Amino acid sequence: MAGRIPQHFIDDLVSRIDIVEVIDKRVPLKKAGRDYQACCPFHSEKTPSFTVSPEKQFYHCFGCGAHGTAIGFLMEYERMEFVEAIEELAQQAGVTVVREDEHGRPADAPRGDGNKALYAVLTQAADYYRQQLRSHPDAPRVIAYLKERGMSGEIARDFLIGYAPNGWDNLSKALGSQQEQALVQAGMLVEKEGGNRYDRFRDRLMFPIRDRRGRVIAFGGRVLPGADDKAAGAKYLNSPETPVFHKGNELYGLFEARQALRELPRLLVVEGYMDVVALAQHGVRYAVATLGTAVTVEHIEKLFRQSSEVVFCFDGDRAGRDAAWRGLENALPLMRDDRSLRFMFMPDGEDPDTLIRSIGQEAFEAQVRDAQSMDEFLIEQFKQRVDVRQIDGQARLVEMSRPMLGKLPPGVYRHKLLERLASLAQMPLAALEGMLQGKTAQETNRAAPSGQPQFSRAKAGRQSPSQVRHAISLLLQHPELARQVANPDALAPLQQPGIALLVEMLDLLQREPNLNTPALLEHWRGRDEAPHLFSLARQDMLLNAEQDDLADEFNGAIRGLQQQLLRQRHRQLSSKPLAELSSAERLEYQSLLREMQN
Ligand code: UTP
Ligand code: MN
Repeated sequence: MAGRIPQHFIDDLVSRIDIVEVIDKRVPLKKAGRDYQACCPFHSEKTPSFTVSPEKQFYHCFGCGAHGTAIGFLMEYERMEFVEAIEELAQQAGVTVVREDEHGRPADAPRGDGNKALYAVLTQAADYYRQQLRSHPDAPRVIAYLKERGMSGEIARDFLIGYAPNGWDNLSKALGSQQEQALVQAGMLVEKEGGNRYDRFRDRLMFPIRDRRGRVIAFGGRVLPGADDKAAGAKYLNSPETPVFHKGNELYGLFEARQALRELPRLLVVEGYMDVVALAQHGVRYAVATLGTAVTVEHIEKLFRQSSEVVFCFDGDRAGRDAAWRGLENALPLMRDDRSLRFMFMPDGEDPDTLIRSIGQEAFEAQVRDAQSMDEFLIEQFKQRVDVRQIDGQARLVEMSRPMLGKLPPGVYRHKLLERLASLAQMPLAALEGMLQGKTAQETNRAAPSGQPQFSRAKAGRQSPSQVRHAISLLLQHPELARQVANPDALAPLQQPGIALLVEMLDLLQREPNLNTPALLEHWRGRDEAPHLFSLARQDMLLNAEQDDLADEFNGAIRGLQQQLLRQRHRQLSSKPLAELSSAERLEYQSLLREMQN
């Protein structure tokens, strides 16, 4: 493992860089008052509504709502992974990325330059395998197999397909024995106890797996027909996890799809290497495969970063539908209104490779376009699991859908799904929402201090929701204000939406007093609250206020919350008959009354 980048490094880096510089290099900015502007790179427009704030160090588009820090910008604009964005910013700032192991010690695993050796031997191995496909005495047998499967030389070249000949030491002979250590680390040689090393891939058809930048990071190897069954082992052999290959993160064919198509119309997620290659062969160049694993959250993030339309292609059988359901559960939190996720199921006994070969590109793509929408698939699954004509059917439907709906961010999808569920349960939409919320409210109360903050006004009730929001907003823009609060944790029991978030933020800032706005925002990366935080950080309040006024404003909000806490405790105690209060509670009650009069 390459080791994690410690949070303090990210905090320092984010505080040090200038977002204006980072963006201006890629999207030329014009000064406009206190901010900088440009036409938004994330949607098409003629008048600039993309704004970069040098003060707050984040960007926001008033047209499409895109927003983020410098890290977020690189991830969206350059389609970088988080770690890549950090590396890029570090390079720009002239600092070396620090890594540590899970105990917080500096990681000694190879990284940066160390990984260079791994990338180099992996590329050399891929070149060697391709060479063998042309010249090895066994190559004609392999080429005949490729032909039989309908693969052209052109596609074999695009996917760097090769042949690993039989034998135990081909790679070290071809690459030189001084490369053995790197080959072991890259997963190409197996090392036995006692130090014996031998080629992992022998007599196999080789599929190099490339990362987003096109570097070879691993291989899949398929057995060839006629191989000795006992000796050959599994049909597909994959590289193990290595410092440069994390299976749950990678998608086979993504680099090739981006090479072949300037604009990806969509991404089709299939199961196998051969499916990706056969689809490309038939003109469908936007297929990618998970590497024999279930679809992970990381996969889905990566997919949506490349295309707003994703189609999952699964077997039509029970196992396929279960896999689709798990994929759906992972995707729900990432569903935004501008993203579409659909499901396509294969007829019995077919996979995308055999299907496109039998029906051709046009008919296949027609099926892709007809793929089930997310809500259709969900409703179908609910129908199969619940009989709404039964007496308890409605209740069960509500039970089943609650966790799913809970993961779905508010928006069009959520609404559409609610409507369909209501019609399925044959009840009015409001009644369904009531049933769903009824429980939710109770649960929120029970979970009080540590529960997820909820900002939606509907759920916040009629209590003045603004003080918590106001305090968070001020803190986001002026993190140094956190010093003013003596004991943040004392606020935790207050039953107010967002209080847990405020307390968390205060605690964090007291531990890390040097965080600036973007560094603070980065601590919420990937969490549900992140978009709310950006919008609170954006609210221009007291633009020209003096520091003293800000502090007064902030302290006023905190005092208001402390007062609310007293009243809350007062209500709790006064709801009990006096006789049931312990003597400690009576004392508390009296002192509460005194404090509330102050
Ligand atoms: P399949 O068995 O469906 O293979 O496995 P396939 O892609 O259709 O291959 P062909 O058509 O027989 O050549 C689907 C995927 O599951 C993983 C591989 O990623 C494979 O592409 N797998 C399968 C393994 O990792 N190991 C195996 O032994 C089998
Ligand atoms: Mn197949």
